[in-house]
Amino acid sequence: MMWSELYYPKRWLGPLNLLLHRSKFFPPAYRQAAMDAILAEEPDVAVFTGDFSSFSLKSEFEQADELFAPLREKLGERLFAIPGNHDVYTTRVARRRVLENSLPWVHTDLVTRLDLNDRLSLLGVNHSCPFLIASNGKVTPEAQERLRAMFDVLNAEGRTVLLAGHYPYISPPEFPEANNHKLLGDDELAQVVKEGAPAVYMHGHHHIRWAVRPRITPETLCLNCGSVSMKHARPDKQAGFLSWDQQDDGEVRNLTAHTYDGKSAWAKSPVDVRVI
Ligand SMILES: [Fe+2]
Repeated sequence: MMWSELYYPKRWLGPLNLLLHRSKFFPPAYRQAAMDAILAEEPDVAVFTGDFSSFSLKSEFEQADELFAPLREKLGERLFAIPGNHDVYTTRVARRRVLENSLPWVHTDLVTRLDLNDRLSLLGVNHSCPFLIASNGKVTPEAQERLRAMFDVLNAEGRTVLLAGHYPYISPPEFPEANNHKLLGDDELAQVVKEGAPAVYMHGHHHIRWAVRPRITPETLCLNCGSVSMKHARPDKQAGFLSWDQQDDGEVRNLTAHTYDGKSAWAKSPVDVRVI
């Protein structure tokens, strides 16, 4: 922590929150267990939708770099990662580009394209930015313009698009987003998604695994991977991740939730898609 940041409220609130709650809810051993389980699946592609850290500290990013090293070694650019709000925790962190300097393999541009084969493209959109106290993200006109333009290009090429962002633009009714946690401009993002019609929108931020097909974007399956390292009694909140077989035409087959038992075993269960 920099002394000059002690007047920054979140620098106080955050560590206090960690002392009171966070280390209990995010046991460090869970991260390695999750990484081992992901590697055991031998994926062709892995997408990480952000929040490598709690407070954007250099030491946290160094730990993340070490943790992700085997997956990076195995997949190269096919480990596709974007930032979360916790990775740009303060304006100072963002100005000093702490994330960019610590994890240069994370895609921090507003929009990033990665072609997976001659039919499938992965698209990352970055809505993460610092807020004084809240955990929001923000849809900016520039991000919208670039995302819309990229959809135009990819759709003109006849490619299937898989979009990754940090924040949901819609949540199941029983898990509403709080005003201080939501993506500001979520309706605008939903509009661009409706027009661009990606086959999948992968996100995190809200620590619950779910799979929904929103009526407002009927072409797009929204997948929330949940937290990879949180301890919780509910299976959909407990540490885990999602896997599936992605078809070139956009179809998602064998959607599976992987849930950690907190010791050594991982349960695999099929995931039902809900229309909301
Ligand atoms: Fe987040």
